[in-house]
Amino acid sequence: MKKDFRKSTVYQIYPKSFRDTNKDGLGDLRGVIEKLDYIKELGADYIWLTPFFVSPQNDNGYDVADYYRIDPAYGTMEDVEELIGESAKRGIGLMFDMVFNHVSTSHEWFQKAMEGDPYYKDFFFFRKGRADGTPPTNWESKFGGNAWEYVEKFDEYYLHLFDVSQADLNWDNENVRREIQKIVKFWMEKGVKGFRFDVINLISKRAFEDDDCGDGRKYYTDGPNIHRYLKELHDTTFGTDAEIITVGEMSSTSIENCYQYAGHDTGELSMVFSFHHLKVDFMGNEKWVLVPADFQKLKDIIFEWQTKMEQHNAWNAVFWCNHDQPRVVSRFGDEGRYWKESAKMLGTVIHCLRGTPYVYQGEELGMTDTDFTEISQFRDVESLNHYQILQDKGLSPSDALRIVQVHSRDNGRTPMQWDASLYAGFTDKDGVAPWIGVNGNHTRINAAAQLEDEDSVFRYYQRLIALRKELDVIAFGSIEPLAVKHPSVFAYRRSYKGEELLVAANFYGKDCEWKTAPDTAGYRQVIGNYKDSSTPENGVWKLRPYEVSVWFKSN
Ligand code: GLC
Ligand code: CA
Repeated sequence: MKKDFRKSTVYQIYPKSFRDTNKDGLGDLRGVIEKLDYIKELGADYIWLTPFFVSPQNDNGYDVADYYRIDPAYGTMEDVEELIGESAKRGIGLMFDMVFNHVSTSHEWFQKAMEGDPYYKDFFFFRKGRADGTPPTNWESKFGGNAWEYVEKFDEYYLHLFDVSQADLNWDNENVRREIQKIVKFWMEKGVKGFRFDVINLISKRAFEDDDCGDGRKYYTDGPNIHRYLKELHDTTFGTDAEIITVGEMSSTSIENCYQYAGHDTGELSMVFSFHHLKVDFMGNEKWVLVPADFQKLKDIIFEWQTKMEQHNAWNAVFWCNHDQPRVVSRFGDEGRYWKESAKMLGTVIHCLRGTPYVYQGEELGMTDTDFTEISQFRDVESLNHYQILQDKGLSPSDALRIVQVHSRDNGRTPMQWDASLYAGFTDKDGVAPWIGVNGNHTRINAAAQLEDEDSVFRYYQRLIALRKELDVIAFGSIEPLAVKHPSVFAYRRSYKGEELLVAANFYGKDCEWKTAPDTAGYRQVIGNYKDSSTPENGVWKLRPYEVSVWFKSN
C-alpha cells in the first residue's frame, strides 16, 4: 500500500532564514533541530527542507556543487543524521529538495566538462553559436538575459535556464540519469521520507530552436521524454519504498501533463506544485510589472485545478507561499487593519481544499513582505538582475525598486520572526547581523507572542492542520466550487460519504453579501476568524471584512 498522505500537512523550511545557532548570521541545520518541537506543536507531518548541499550559494543552494556533502555554513552530515532521527522521534518525515535540472558550474561534472572531457561534456548542452555570432537560440534565462553562456575555449555555448552558474543537465544522456538515481538512493538510505524535485518538468528539452513569440519555454517545458524520465526515476528509486512521498515543482506546466505527473496510478510523483494561481498579479508571464491581483482569475484557476485533478484521480499540493513567492498576507490580504483576519482567511481557503497543504515558515505567524527601502538591502540574484533590466528598459530607479519590492523572492526570505529581540531570535542579539535584514515588524509579529495568545494566527493554523486529521471530508472529499462569479466571495463545498463541508470567505476588506448562499441548517461551524459566527439568513450570507467561516454536517 502506498503511503496515504491526504491527512498530512507539510511545513517548508528555508534553512538559511530559519534559525542561526552559531551566531554567524546564517541559518543552519542545528537551528532546525532546535525548533522541531515548535513544528511538532504546529502539527505538521513533514518538513520540506530547501537545499543545504555544498554550493557557492549564487542561488542560495539551488546551485548544487556536491549532492553528497553538506555545505559547512549549514552544518555537517552528523547534523543531518541527527535531524532525521530527531524528526522521526516526533513522527515528522523529512523531505529533501533535489535540484536535478541543473548543477552549479563548480560541480565536478561541469569542471571536468570544462577541461574538455567528452564524457562529461555530454552531461550538459554545449552547442555552437550561429554564423552571425549570436547564441544558439534566443531563449531567455529565467533570471534575465540570454540562456546561453559563451565558452571561448570551445567556441561553444552552454545552456543555463537559470543563473549562468547553473548549467542545465542533459537528461537524454543515460549516464546523467544513472548518477541522479544514485543520489536519490543515497538519501533514501539515510532515512529521508520524501523528495521535492526542483523545476523537474524542464529536464527534457524538445529542440534547440528560436522562439518567435516567447522566451523559449515551449521548447523545454513538459518536454517529449518527461514522463519516461520520471517513471524511470520512480521505478529505480523512490517508487520502491511505499513510505516515500514526492512533489514535483512544475514550472509553467499544463494541467493535462499534471494528470500524469501526479496521477494516483501513473507511477510518477505523489503530487505537484503548479503556479498559475500565483500569476494573477502578473501580465501574462511577465512578473516584473505592477498590476492588481485578478480575483476572478484566481478563483477560476484554483477551481479548474481542483475539479479537473479530481476528475483525473490526480493530487494537488495546495499552497500560497514558498521561498520564491511574496508573503500571501501582503499579496492577497491586508498587512494593516485586517492583518490577522486576512491571514486566517487565506490559510483557511487553502487548508480546506482538496490536496496536501504546504505551510511556508512564518506563514503560520502571518509574516509580511519585507520593509526594505533600498536596493542594497535585497540579496536575491533574480531581483538584482531584474532591477537592472527594468532600468535598461527605461524605468527610473525608484519605479524599478517599487516593482522589486512587490515581487522579490526576498519577501519570503527575511529571517523567521521568533521573538521581539534585535534579530528576532533568528540570530542571538550578540551575534553577527543576519545575512538579510529582519523585518521591523518582528516586535509585533513573532512566534513567542503568538504561542501565548489563543487567538493568534499560529493557534489558528494549528487548528486548521488538526481539522484535516479530524474530518475525513477535508482529506478525502470531492470539491464543488460555489459563488463562482461573485466579486468578493471565495466559497466551495466538499462532500464525502454523507459528510459536507461548506467554506465561505470574503476576500476583501469591506462587508459583502452572498445572496445565493446555501442553507446551513443542520451544520455546525468548525472554524472561523470572527468570534461570533455568521450564518445565512433568508438565503443571504453577510460576511464581514476578510471573514471566513467553515461549516460541517454529517448525516
Ligand atoms: C526553483 C526554486 C528556486 C530556484 C530555481 C532554480 O524554482 O524554487 O528557488 O531559484 O528553481 O533552481
Ligand atoms: Ca549559522
